[in-house]
Amino acid sequence: MTIAIKGGTVVTADLTYRADILVDGGTIVAVGPDLHGNEVIDASGAFVMPGGIDPHTHLEMPFMGTFSSDDFDTGSAAALAGGTTMTVDFVLPAPNQGLIEALQEWHQKAGKARTDFSFHMAITWWGERVFEEMPKVVAEGINTFKHFMAYKGALMVNDDEMFASFSRCAELGAMPLVHAENGDVVAFLQQKLLAEGNNGPEAHGYSRPPEVEGEATNRAIMIADQAGVPLYVVHVSCEQSHEAIRRARAKGMRVFGEPLIQHLVLDESEYFNADWDYAARRVMSPPFRNQLHQDSLWAGLQSGSLQVVATDHCAFTTAQKRTGLGDFTKIPNGTGGLEDRMPVLWTKGVNTGRLTMNEFVAATSTNIAKILNIYPRKGAILPGADADLVVWDPTATKTIKAAAQKSAIDYNVFEGIEVKGLPAVTLSRGKVAYRDGEVRAETGDGRFVERPANAPVTKALSTWKELTAPRKVERSGIPASGV
Ligand code: URP
Ligand code: ZN
Ligand code: ZN
Ligand code: ZN
Repeated sequence: MTIAIKGGTVVTADLTYRADILVDGGTIVAVGPDLHGNEVIDASGAFVMPGGIDPHTHLEMPFMGTFSSDDFDTGSAAALAGGTTMTVDFVLPAPNQGLIEALQEWHQKAGKARTDFSFHMAITWWGERVFEEMPKVVAEGINTFKHFMAYKGALMVNDDEMFASFSRCAELGAMPLVHAENGDVVAFLQQKLLAEGNNGPEAHGYSRPPEVEGEATNRAIMIADQAGVPLYVVHVSCEQSHEAIRRARAKGMRVFGEPLIQHLVLDESEYFNADWDYAARRVMSPPFRNQLHQDSLWAGLQSGSLQVVATDHCAFTTAQKRTGLGDFTKIPNGTGGLEDRMPVLWTKGVNTGRLTMNEFVAATSTNIAKILNIYPRKGAILPGADADLVVWDPTATKTIKAAAQKSAIDYNVFEGIEVKGLPAVTLSRGKVAYRDGEVRAETGDGRFVERPANAPVTKALSTWKELTAPRKVERSGIPASGV
């Protein structure tokens, strides 16, 4: 059974050209003029791009006394409706729980996925057992380990634990990720604000200033450099964090930065809305920032100092958010975005001239495929690649409305934004998974994507670190001690 996608303009991270694409089974088998298949998808007037990869989701995540409300079923349906064909979620071992045991739990949950998926393993505590199990995790096809520098008393790890884990990553050819905020300072500011009577959602923003994020980013970069590993900083929200990444990259350090679509588009004024629910629904960490920070993030995508746009999709209902009435520190942190990431980035990025179409593909798919070491199986339009494709209609418009979304929650932080540029058809491993408003992929169609260790950048850095490691100078004629 072959499918020919005909008459479209192929857009990849580095090229834009007219070509048909022939898909056989789950794979792209040819790209070129005048291809024929058993089935035809008419792409005339459309752009055909690699399906989106969202490297940062929390589906059915146990967090702050509850579970995020989109699971792998509704979350992956939302992804496909927005042109995303692969998600990477975070396995979060409970305190003292083994990594492999936690991984099995996440595989159970992900059995419902309609899109392909992978996992990052979070290091939520440190000990002999974690150290011993990290290579087993790598053998299971996971080459990234996440560290929370915030959420004190819950997910947070300290510097010594981070250094030990980063060093272990270096030995294993894996890459650490960080949620970079100074958790001690955040915890202090939260208590101070509460004591002063500042208990509403706006205090969430005050408790997590940009400096707190910049300091942690810089610290993580230094620790990664000393451990000899690359570093990936998730949800970079501000100039202070971006500056640290930019500076490190300018020195030749292998540091990657991931802004979220939310931070690019929504600003801190959201927290000052008079409606408590409205403001609380937008509570996430790091919080939304002002326009200067947003401009910095866009500039990072343009200049290449930031590489990936993700969602951190972690959706809580209004009822869940209300746990924090009277105490903002109890508002479950997280927002949605899976269905909206690509249309909103296209609208606010490509349609405004802030990004080229090729930069859009790089930021939504190809760059992360390379960083996660799954390129060109994912993130590419090449013979042999998985046929994860999106036929993108640049003329299609809609106004984002929670009432029409695939996500299970009762609101949308992008409500009312008009987008121009939407997926007409999304193909997942060669199957039409979404078409004209309807998700066609079934629950359970998704497959786990193994990601081998020793990505090119990780390997290059370890070679360099070995070459430049301290070496004892062997001397002859050692002077006699004393006089
Ligand atoms: O507020 C957020 N970002 N919630 C999800 C967990 C995390 O920190 O990424
Ligand atoms: Zn022909
Ligand atoms: Zn985080
Ligand atoms: Zn997250």
